[in-house]
Amino acid sequence: MKRLTAILLATLTLTSCTMQNNVDTSSTLIKPEIEKKIDSLLSKMTLDEKVGQMTQYNGNWDVTGPLPEGDYFEERYEAIASGKVGSMLNIIGAEATLEAQKIAVEKSRLGIPLIFGYDVIHGYKTMFPIPLGDAASWDLEAIEKATRVAAMEASSAGIHWAFAPMMDVTRDPRWGRIMEGAGEDPFLASKISVARVKGFQGDNLSDLTTVAATAKHFAGYGFIRGGLDYNTTELSNTTLYNMVLPPFKASVDAGVASVMNSFNDINGIPATAHTQLQRDILKEEWGFDGLIISDWANISEMVTHGFAKDLVEATKKAILAGTDMDMESNAYEQHLVTLVNSGEVEEKYIDEAVRRILRIKFLLGLFDDPYRYSNALREKKNTYTESNRQIARDIAKKSIVLLKNDGKVLPISKSVKSIAVIGALANDKDTPLGSWRAQAQANSAVSLLEGIKNAVGNNTTVKFAQGYTLATNERAFINELDFSKMDNTDGFDVALKLARTSDVVVVAVGEEAFQSGEGRSQTSISLKGAQLQLLKKITAINDNVVVVLMNGRPIAEPWLYENSPAILETWHLGSEAGNAIADVIFGDNNPSGKLPISIPRNVGQIPIFYNHDRTGRPDAYADNPNMVFWSHYTDSEKTPQFYFGHGLSYTTFEYSKLNLSSSTMTQNDTILVSVDITNTGAVEGEEVVQLYLHDKFASIIRPVKELKGFKKINLIAGESKTIQFEITKELLSFYGPDGVLRIEPGEFEIMVGGNSQNNLSKVLTLEYF
Ligand code: NOJ
Repeated sequence: MKRLTAILLATLTLTSCTMQNNVDTSSTLIKPEIEKKIDSLLSKMTLDEKVGQMTQYNGNWDVTGPLPEGDYFEERYEAIASGKVGSMLNIIGAEATLEAQKIAVEKSRLGIPLIFGYDVIHGYKTMFPIPLGDAASWDLEAIEKATRVAAMEASSAGIHWAFAPMMDVTRDPRWGRIMEGAGEDPFLASKISVARVKGFQGDNLSDLTTVAATAKHFAGYGFIRGGLDYNTTELSNTTLYNMVLPPFKASVDAGVASVMNSFNDINGIPATAHTQLQRDILKEEWGFDGLIISDWANISEMVTHGFAKDLVEATKKAILAGTDMDMESNAYEQHLVTLVNSGEVEEKYIDEAVRRILRIKFLLGLFDDPYRYSNALREKKNTYTESNRQIARDIAKKSIVLLKNDGKVLPISKSVKSIAVIGALANDKDTPLGSWRAQAQANSAVSLLEGIKNAVGNNTTVKFAQGYTLATNERAFINELDFSKMDNTDGFDVALKLARTSDVVVVAVGEEAFQSGEGRSQTSISLKGAQLQLLKKITAINDNVVVVLMNGRPIAEPWLYENSPAILETWHLGSEAGNAIADVIFGDNNPSGKLPISIPRNVGQIPIFYNHDRTGRPDAYADNPNMVFWSHYTDSEKTPQFYFGHGLSYTTFEYSKLNLSSSTMTQNDTILVSVDITNTGAVEGEEVVQLYLHDKFASIIRPVKELKGFKKINLIAGESKTIQFEITKELLSFYGPDGVLRIEPGEFEIMVGGNSQNNLSKVLTLEYF
C-alpha cells in the first residue's frame, strides 16, 4: 500500500483530534450534590480561609526537602487552629492524625477538616516490591491488589491521600527515582498507573479503606538531564506527548483525585508555572477535576531557578498556571491574599483551587465524619497482618525476573546437601524494604538467608558468609552513603572457603535500600566496591553459582551477566523478599517477570531503550562491515545487555500461527490478532504475551517498535492457548509535535512474542477511505 502525500496526511490529522477532543468529559469526581455543598461553604469563607485551604504543612515525620526556619511545630499547630492550613503531610498514625484533625475541626472558625497526605509508594507498613519491581510482574491484578492493601493500611492509620503512583517514564538508570516508576514504556506505565490508581481509590473514595491517589510528577521529571535529580530537562514535544503524558492521561481518565507537579522545567518553564501543561492540557483538555499539588517547595524554587524574581512573583506564576495547593513553599500563605487584594490575581483562581481541594475532602467523606479514618483500633487490626504479608509475598514472587539460566543451575533441588549464601545483602533485613518505605519497621524484611533457611529441610546445610561490606549507615534514608566502605575485602577468605566447600552458592549483590530513591543519582550504575571482585573469585571455584541481584535501578555489569550461569533480578522486594526469592530459587514458583526497563551494558549507552526512533543509518554496511559511518559505538555494542520485556522461565514457550483477521483495515475496523502459545517444557508456567507495533512510514519518525498490548497467561506443560489482541485505530495513532493525534494510512508491522526482540510478525495495512 502506498502512502498518501504529506499534504493529504496533514488533512487527515484534522479528522482526528487533539489531546483535548479525545477526552471523555464525564468526570467521576463531579457529584452535583457535592458541588452545591462546596458553593455554600465557599460563600462563607474569607479570602484568608480560602488561601488556608491551599496551604499544606509538613508534620513532624519524614522530610524530603529543606524545612523553613522558625519555631516550626508550635507555629504549625497554631496555624491549623486559625484556619490557615488545609492539609498536612507526614503526620503519622491514627492518634497523631486525630489530634491534628481535632484542632482543625474544633478550633478553626469553619471547622473544615484537614486532608492528610503521605508518601505511600510501595506499601504503608507491609512493604511490597518497589514500583519498578512490581512493574516487572506485568500483572495488573496483582498490582491493584497490593495497592489496595497499601491503601487499606494507610487509611487505617489516618492517611487520606497517597502521593503515588509516580508515573514518570524514564530511560535513565542513573536517576535514583527510577525505582519509583514503572520503567521506560508509556503503554505499560499507563496500564500499571491505572491499576495503582484503582488500587488506592477503589470504586468509592468515601470507602474507609481507600485513599485519594496522586499522579506524579507532572511532567517530564524522568527526562532530567544526566539523570541528575532536580535538574532541568531537554524534552521534545513528540516525546512529551507520546512518551511522558500518556500515563497521566490514562490516570485522569481513571478518575485520579490529584496530580503533583514536578521540580523540572519543560522548555524553560518550571512545571509549577506551566500554564499550558496544567491549565490547558490537564484541566481543560483532559477535563481533570481533582487538585494539583506542588511538589515540596517547588513554588519557592522557581526563584532559585531564576524564573521568578522573588517569592511574590513565584506565587503569582504558580496560581495563574493552575497549581492549587502549596506544599512547603509557604508562598501561598504569605502572598496570595495580598496578590488578590492588589488585583494582580483574580479571586476566581482562588475559588477554583479551593473548590478542587474541598471536592476531594467531600468525596473522602471528611465532612461527614472528619475522624473516621483515625481509629487506633483499626490501625492495629489492619496493618502488617499475616494476610497482608502473604499478598506481599505473592506479588514479590511475580516480580522476580529470571535473566539467565545456563546449564539449568536453577531451580536448586531441595535435596542438595549444602548451600553457601554469600554477600552482605543476603543477610540484610533492611535492604529489601527499599527506598520510600513509609512506616515499615527497619530491619523487618525476611532476608534472603532466612528465606532459604525457611525453605529447606534438615538435610540441607545452609551457611552464610558476608564477603563484602555495605555502605549503609543509621540515617541512610536522609544522609549520604559512604561507598568507600565497600572496598573492604576482609571477608573474602571466609566466603571463598565456604564457596569451595558447598554444592551450590547463592550470591547476593547489588544495591542497598537507600542507594536509589530521591536525591540518589549516580554516574556509575555498576556494582560498588568489592562485590564484582568477590563474584569473580567465587565463579572461578564453583560452577553452581546463582546470582541474586537486589537493586533499585538496572545494574550495568557485563562480566556478571556473561559469566554467571544463573541470574535472578529481584529488585527490592519488600517485607517478604527472602521467602519470595526462595520460592523461585527452589522452583516452588516458576518465575514469570519481564523487564520493564532495558539493562544497559555500560553507562555510556544511557539513554538506551527499546522504543527508540528509527535512524537513517541503523546497520553496518553489508559490503563493508568495517566502515564506521553508521549508527554505532566503536568501543561497545549498541544493544543493551537485556532488552525491555526479557524474562525467562523454568519452562519454554513456543509462539506460532500469528494471524490477522484481515491484512487490511479502515479507520473504523477492529482487527483481531491471534497467536498460539505452547508450553514446550516440563513444568507449568506463566508467560507474558507481548504485542508490538511498528509504523513503517509516517509524517514524523516513529519508534522501531512500541508495546501495544500484553496478556499474562498460565500454561501447564504441553498446553497450548490461542491469545487474541484487538487492533483499532487508537493503537495505530500517535501525537505530532503540535499535540495533535494523528492516524495515518500505510503499513504497520504487527509483532507478537515473549519479549521485545524475538517476535513473529505480519504486516497490516491501514487504508484511507
Ligand atoms: C518530594 C518528592 O519529589 C515527592 O514525590 C514527594 O511526594 C514529596 N517530596 C513529599 O514527600
